[in-house]
Amino acid sequence: MVEEIKERFFEDLNSAEDLQKLNAIRVKYLGKKGVLTAQLKLLPSLPPSERPLVGKLINEIKVLIEKELSSKEAFLKEAELKKQLLSEYIDITLPGKYTPFGSEHPLNKVLAEIIDIFIRMGFSVEEGPEVELDYYNFEALNIPKEHPARDMQDTFYISDEILLRTHTSPVQIRGMIKRTPPVRFIAPGKVYRCDADISHTPMFHQVEGLMIDENVTFSNLKGVLVTFIHLMFGQDVPVRFRPSFFPFTEPSAEVDMGCILCRCHGCRVCKNSGWLEILGAGMVHPVVLENVGYDTERYNGFAFGMGVERIAMLKYQIDDIRLFFENDIRFLRQF
Ligand code: PHE
Repeated sequence: MVEEIKERFFEDLNSAEDLQKLNAIRVKYLGKKGVLTAQLKLLPSLPPSERPLVGKLINEIKVLIEKELSSKEAFLKEAELKKQLLSEYIDITLPGKYTPFGSEHPLNKVLAEIIDIFIRMGFSVEEGPEVELDYYNFEALNIPKEHPARDMQDTFYISDEILLRTHTSPVQIRGMIKRTPPVRFIAPGKVYRCDADISHTPMFHQVEGLMIDENVTFSNLKGVLVTFIHLMFGQDVPVRFRPSFFPFTEPSAEVDMGCILCRCHGCRVCKNSGWLEILGAGMVHPVVLENVGYDTERYNGFAFGMGVERIAMLKYQIDDIRLFFENDIRFLRQF
């Protein structure tokens, strides 16, 4: 009888594949109305001599059933946990969703670098209008109406007195009028000239620089510009100053640096000269200082100007200026 119970129990146990069924088996065998309880209730009806043995057997099987139930319970709990973990599994090795990033325009990048270098040398940053008065763009800079220097600049006129600024030099004038010396700032911004080919676009960018104080010398100018070129292009780049002419500076110079493409040996970019012109500069003409009401006996200074596109083209070895403005994503992605 007891053996039969054991056999049936194991059959039931094997067929229990979840905790709910296992619990039903527990009730079936050990519950108040369970199989074993029923057996125990039968004990008094047995002959007294058999009772101890049968009682013992029933107790043994009860212990066995309890043990088997609890080990099966542990097994089923573990299996359920595994099943749950498996269903909640996230594959973190899957590639993420691709979001294309924009990048900084190469001109903005170079401009930021230029500005940063001059800020480190103590210059502040000044801005001015792109639609400018003839007075600030020419007149105040010692370029009167019939001056031949106006021809160099291919000006876009809006009216007789209003134009698109052809250089950032008018910001010199506006900046000086606003201040009293000492003055030290750079003026980055867009400028416009009616010109278009492989090395000219109708709009391009310049950075102008100005420093006015007592006893400013040409060697101060050289020091600032050589430092700038070395920080921008490398410490070993040779630099030379060539005499030149600008109406608003006297003396004036153009500044060349050794061609970084051919290391001064001569190539297509430097037209076989080994040198690249990158800056215009000079000591501010006293007439310009007078125009803004500065005491020319006490103050003097230097100014310089450079084209941002030109610097970017040299830095990134780009041979057509128009690439900067075509917004071809394949070009822009490279920076
Ligand atoms: N404004 C000049 C130009 O556009 C550059 C320059 C600036 C030269 C300051 C000398 C001093 O060509």
